[in-house]
Amino acid sequence: MATAIEVLVPDIGGFKDVSVIDVLVKDGQQVDKETPLITIETEKAAMDVPAPAAGRIAQVKLKQGDKVSEGSLILLLEPAAAAPAVEPSAATTGAAASATAAAVPGGEAPAAPPPAAAAQQPAAASAARAAPVSPPTARVAASIDEKAFSRAYASPSVRKFAREVGADLGKIAGTGPKLRITQDDVKAYVKRILTSPAAAPVSALPKVPEVDFAKYGAVEVQPLSRIQRISGARLQASWINLPHVTQHDDADITELEAARGSLKARAAEEEVKLTPLVFIIKACILSLQKFPRFNASLDASGENLVFKKYFNIGFAADTPNGLVVPVIRDADRLDIFQIARALATLSAKARAGKLTAAEMQGGCFTISSLGGIGGTAFTPIINAPEVAILGVSKSSHKPVFEDGAFVPRLMLPLSLSYDHRVIDGAEAARFVVFLAKTLGDVKALV
Ligand code: COA
Repeated sequence: MATAIEVLVPDIGGFKDVSVIDVLVKDGQQVDKETPLITIETEKAAMDVPAPAAGRIAQVKLKQGDKVSEGSLILLLEPAAAAPAVEPSAATTGAAASATAAAVPGGEAPAAPPPAAAAQQPAAASAARAAPVSPPTARVAASIDEKAFSRAYASPSVRKFAREVGADLGKIAGTGPKLRITQDDVKAYVKRILTSPAAAPVSALPKVPEVDFAKYGAVEVQPLSRIQRISGARLQASWINLPHVTQHDDADITELEAARGSLKARAAEEEVKLTPLVFIIKACILSLQKFPRFNASLDASGENLVFKKYFNIGFAADTPNGLVVPVIRDADRLDIFQIARALATLSAKARAGKLTAAEMQGGCFTISSLGGIGGTAFTPIINAPEVAILGVSKSSHKPVFEDGAFVPRLMLPLSLSYDHRVIDGAEAARFVVFLAKTLGDVKALV
């Protein structure tokens, strides 16, 4: 036979005849220590009364709407350790009644409580006063508006539950007495969110048809490299989440190319190679300084723009294992020779697969240069959470109409993809025009 204990209303700050607004457990239910048993509401707040020990609810002694004060009987609880593992069948039907009798003051004590029960429940402890609830210390979901959450009208157990499932109480309408938010309201809210189209997981995107390629001829299967798998997921996340627009323009780099030629000897002394990319990085920094929005990122809420006061420039590097983006830190503090050195060092490390994680982090803006390979234009994918990326294609001589005649000029194709949530088309056009102009202004770059 198990010994039940009385669970009484604890000290509730001297309030009397307080309403029971919720009975959270039923007869026969197993509870853990701290499981909320009832919710009571004083003039000041709603509070839960938790179980003083784990066990089985023998009998609930009150109902919703009852009035209670300190010491009122809530229920009878058979503590877990007091419940015998296997009850003899003859005693089973009478177990609850005996336990009840044993727990009621003045009632008949069980003839021989199991040793564990005797150890845990000395006679003097046959009634337990539940401890007042302390605020839950559960994980806070990132998107919870804490002010609204704390103002919401809900009991501690509902608050705890909302924390556990990451629901923002401030956004939930209560349907309980006096519009109190109940656990069912929280469940309904979470269900609504999970089944809304906006919450559809990526896997809910229409699938590309599966094809058995071997049906049509010989095939060979090769796994993607680790880098391809990682960068692939990031590229897809950016492509899906960021509304991309690409703005194209040509920069006249005829004079820049002449200056680059004249700097070759100096570059050789410095043991660096001045490719067009070095000057493009320099021109991008000047453009980012003029248009700080391009050097910003949306924060996690998507409602604020974080302007970065540093200029870390990433560049896409083609390696045997796939695409990586090393980052030149504080590129604005470097001259063209230092930029060339950083480019060479980081590209060599990239190709050797020796870049550290830190060397690929902290970027503000990325440049993807395919100029050494060819092509006239492309639409690069933004390296999110950055908001823009510059694609550079191969420069070529084009006829440009100047002073009433066509003249051959060396033109560099630029393709700027930008996050349209952050950057307007007009702003992007201004950025590219400025960038192109800067690339034509040798003095600004060297
Ligand atoms: N137009 C014409 N020629 C160009 C050029 C351009 N826009 N950009 C570079 N070149 C020339 C260079 O001057 C160099 O010529 P040279 O050897 O006669 O001097 C040649 O092309 C090769 O340049 P490269 O070694 O590629 O140097 P770089 O500084 O231009 O680029 C990297 C360095 C790491 C960015 C580059 O090697 C790379 O990996 N590019 C691929 C990036 C990529 O895969 N992007 C796609 C992402 S989706």
